[in-house]
Amino acid sequence: MVGIVQRAGTVLRSSRSRLFLEPGDAERAAEALKEYDIEGLIVVGVDGSLTAASLLAGVGFPAVGIPKTIDNDVAGTRLTVGFQTAVQMAAHALDNLRSTAESHSRVMVVEVMGRSTGWIAVEAGIAAGADQVLIPERPLSLESIYDRLRVRHETHGRNYSILMVAEGFLDVEDELDPSSGSTDHLGRVRYAGVGAQLALRISADLGYNAHCTTLGYLQRCAAPIAADRILATRLSDRAYDLLQGGESGVMAGLVGDDIESVPLSRVAGETKTVPEELIALADVFG
Ligand code: F6P
Repeated sequence: MVGIVQRAGTVLRSSRSRLFLEPGDAERAAEALKEYDIEGLIVVGVDGSLTAASLLAGVGFPAVGIPKTIDNDVAGTRLTVGFQTAVQMAAHALDNLRSTAESHSRVMVVEVMGRSTGWIAVEAGIAAGADQVLIPERPLSLESIYDRLRVRHETHGRNYSILMVAEGFLDVEDELDPSSGSTDHLGRVRYAGVGAQLALRISADLGYNAHCTTLGYLQRCAAPIAADRILATRLSDRAYDLLQGGESGVMAGLVGDDIESVPLSRVAGETKTVPEELIALADVFG
């Protein structure tokens, strides 16, 4: 290893490019790669990156993908590179916030990333014993959130709470707006602010002392934990073998505990959402 296994982010940098969105882009890219005597590509990322790998394979240029995103929302793989580190970072933040929430009788709303899914929120929430986990897969009314807070504070006499909210959380009456009002390079909604809105509403409607901590980009810059480094190494090793073996238009994916070849056609346009049993587990121990 060239001493990067312990680093967050990407030494190749991320283009957030709109390339490959226009007809002929893939052909032009394949020609440019061949001019540099590049015989094949292992593409690390999701969305734009895996789409590019699929389009390159479609014009006959050998390309294999590795799913990397903290969101863990990629179909065809149980885990994505970066997810487990983001969960560890968020759970550790909740552990720390619990002490000041209890000391000062606060309701701490912690907003985490995850785009349109709640994987980070639900797993970090379970790991840190969040009192409520609010994710896009399970829209709720503000009143139902308030009811659980009242039971905890007024019936059980607890003087603080920890609420974990995914940035894309939707309330059923649309009283909160998770969108930042801007879009990213692929025209997708950029999320920001639902946690702060929720904290303000809890303070105003219940009279509790509620505050929001938004973990944001801190979830993408923590040094990878060992489990993530091992996953990345296993996926990279298999991706190399797939490419060397002549496969293209596939990604190395974690299926159960095995690394398998997964057709990119199964991945494109799909979003892996949090299953009901994990949401129920967060509720049981919340
Ligand atoms: O997809 C990873 C992610 O961190 C999401 O969780 C988040 O919503 C988004 O990227 C932020 O995108 P950008 O880095 O373009 O602001």
